[in-house]
Amino acid sequence: MAVDRCVCHNLTFSYLKQVADANSANLSMLMQLTDCCSNCGMCTPYVILMLQTGATVFPALSASKVQALMDSARG
Ligand code: FES
Repeated sequence: MAVDRCVCHNLTFSYLKQVADANSANLSMLMQLTDCCSNCGMCTPYVILMLQTGATVFPALSASKVQALMDSARG
């Protein structure tokens, strides 16, 4: 099943990409602007990947890929 949104807030990654592009937003700023990633957090690695690649639809990520993306966001 494809992953294309922050389910908790019903925010599509396509919409989030538009907001990120319009504001040159990083993850932190995008969260402040839209409230994405602020409830369960399951969408966070996908939003990170969206910011890195520009893609807006993803296959479900493996646990190791999720961990790698979360680690990359922490610096
Ligand atoms: S899916 Fe985005 S916070 Fe839950």
